[in-house]
Amino acid sequence: VITGVRFRAVPVHAADDYRLTGESLRKTIEELRAKGLEPFYLTVTLGTTDTCSIDDFDSIADVLAELAPPTQDPATTTAAATNGVDGTTVNGHAETTNGGSGSSSGGDHRGEIWVHVDAAYAGAALVCPEHQHLAAAFGRFHSVNTNLHKWLLTNFDCSALWVRRRGWLVDALAVTLAIVRNDYSDAGLVTDYRDWQIPFGRRFRALKVWFVLRSYGVRGLQDHIRRHVALGDMFAALVRGRPDLFDMVAGPRFALTVFRLKGKGKGTGPASADDDDDKEPTLEDQNAVTKQMHDLVNAEGKIFLSSTVVGGVFAIRHCPASRLVEETHVRKHFDILVEAAEKVLA
Ligand SMILES: Cc1ncc(COP(=O)(O)O)c(C=O)c1O
Repeated sequence: VITGVRFRAVPVHAADDYRLTGESLRKTIEELRAKGLEPFYLTVTLGTTDTCSIDDFDSIADVLAELAPPTQDPATTTAAATNGVDGTTVNGHAETTNGGSGSSSGGDHRGEIWVHVDAAYAGAALVCPEHQHLAAAFGRFHSVNTNLHKWLLTNFDCSALWVRRRGWLVDALAVTLAIVRNDYSDAGLVTDYRDWQIPFGRRFRALKVWFVLRSYGVRGLQDHIRRHVALGDMFAALVRGRPDLFDMVAGPRFALTVFRLKGKGKGTGPASADDDDDKEPTLEDQNAVTKQMHDLVNAEGKIFLSSTVVGGVFAIRHCPASRLVEETHVRKHFDILVEAAEKVLA
């Protein structure tokens, strides 16, 4: 988007739990190629922002192995694609589609697609062995990012980027100006991070990560993640325990629960199994009452809710992934929500 390159959103669906699948990607790549556009970059996500969905990495990697297999020299191919005028990027989960049609220089210039795994929030969970299977396919992709400032107790900002082959970055970004040359770099004795990025300088963030690691230890970090996951599961169980008031939309996953208000039928009161006269609430009805409840809770100001719209559904997000949150707070959140729901549905 920033470089003005066209991008295409790959559709995701509620039936797939909002995860990007290989089949959906296949369709998008084929549509793009039919228009003479060549995708060269894809973002997949471990823990999407809206619903914390986990893309179907294996099927995505399988489709790419078939449609965009690695070329003999990936660094050269990636650089060529980036410079190409008719390239396009493919973005998992974006809400809007921008462009997609355009001129083509023609010819078969299909190449490997750089796949970046956005694990900004949920990547922190990989400190726990029980979540590490989620990263099994990472070796089939090109880069991964986790923001340690999101869920790993590090002060803002600190985003850790892993790349499968640093040579890909260095080949594209290294600058050998006279002013930065020195014997140690020339001898290959140091890692010059200026060659991994566009700016020369970067802030020193490693020390604060070191302090976090030393303060908490691996066990401490694991306990921190597990505590939040358990609180999220507990909250989701409370929501499920009131099917008369709430519908689950997604989760619980990585402490995030996404839900909506049950809604009421068109002026007939809440739908109920034992009252045949009640009409099923429409999507618009449910969206309206959920938004009403969301606004009411935020206006009261005891807790602050965030919301999202997925597949046309307006939903409330609850995520107790904050260092000082305890079970008693989460129960209190739920009480506040029940009280507001009952007011709105009354
Ligand atoms: C999955 C995901 N990716 C990226 C971001 C944004 O990260 P950054 O602040 O590094 O741009 C967020 C949320 O802020 C997120 O949830």
